[in-house]
Amino acid sequence: ESTLGAAAAQSGRYFGTAIAANRLSDSTYATIAAREFDSVTAENEMKIDATQPQRGQFNFTAADRVYNWAVQNGKQVRGHTLAWHSQQPGWMQSLSGSALRQAMIDHINGVMSHYKGRIAQWDVVNEAFADGSSGARRDSNLQRTGNDWIEVAFRTARAADPSAKLCYNDYNVEDWTWAKTQAMYAMVRDFKQRGVPIDCVGFQSHFNSGSPYNSNFRTTLQNFAALGVDVAITELDIQGAPASTYANVVNDCLAVSRCLGITVWGVRDSDSWRSEHTPLLFNNDGSKKPAYTAVLNALNGG
Ligand code: G3I
Repeated sequence: ESTLGAAAAQSGRYFGTAIAANRLSDSTYATIAAREFDSVTAENEMKIDATQPQRGQFNFTAADRVYNWAVQNGKQVRGHTLAWHSQQPGWMQSLSGSALRQAMIDHINGVMSHYKGRIAQWDVVNEAFADGSSGARRDSNLQRTGNDWIEVAFRTARAADPSAKLCYNDYNVEDWTWAKTQAMYAMVRDFKQRGVPIDCVGFQSHFNSGSPYNSNFRTTLQNFAALGVDVAITELDIQGAPASTYANVVNDCLAVSRCLGITVWGVRDSDSWRSEHTPLLFNNDGSKKPAYTAVLNALNGG
């Protein structure tokens, strides 16, 4: 196959990208995105500050621009993200305790009902664990509402849209030896044992010199899958975009039957949140990088 999406589909997987609504008017960007990818994640437009700028007043204008573009171009959509310490609107940042807990529940219900039955996977909770060696939860206003905030978010999400796969999503959880990975694993194992509704784990996979790709990523994916959840690579970008590392990541997903697919976090290097790392598959002029060819070849089985 000659595009990333079609090549991934040969094994029942998808190959997606993050899309920014305000770039869709750029024809180079839109042409590549429409041609190469068969799954879309809104880079910022479905986040809390975008979808509920004032309490109780939902706004899906930008989110629907991304959503409708994706569906009109035949792509599935990953929802990102419902409960997160970052990109909260001011009104939410000022809440605490039971009022914040209720606001989180109301937000999940409001956004998921708008897209009910139309989202393949939702990142229900994003980035709840601390970096470093503690294995602890990240301190945040949501965490301070009580340690059960994550499971409450998942139970709320299941009731709001039973058709969506419900994911926990995080970064620096790709290396099996990291404390953060082990903490996330213990949470997912506990959720599965107690019947908390979780379907998938998203590995953001923002690899750089400080948190590099390690070949034990495949072990991580396999160990999570063995708990009875699907896994996905949700925000892939790699500093310098070495072709061999991109191929390794693709082969890791292909080696794990429960790996649903791969999403890269943008189209061209100039679209990246860290463009100085030139971490993506396309050059600024829209031409394909060596990493693109490596990914396509891996998806095609060789
Ligand atoms: O839209 C405003 C614009 O009006 C304003 O003039 C400008 C001034 O700073 O800011 C613009 O908003 C920026 C927004 O991206 C849209 O470009 C924000 O400042 C900026 O913080 C925001 O960055 C996003 C970041 O999440 C915020 O946390 C990145 O685009 C986005 O790629 C990044 O994505 C995250 C995932 O959601 C979660 N995992 C990590 C990943 C990378 O940080």
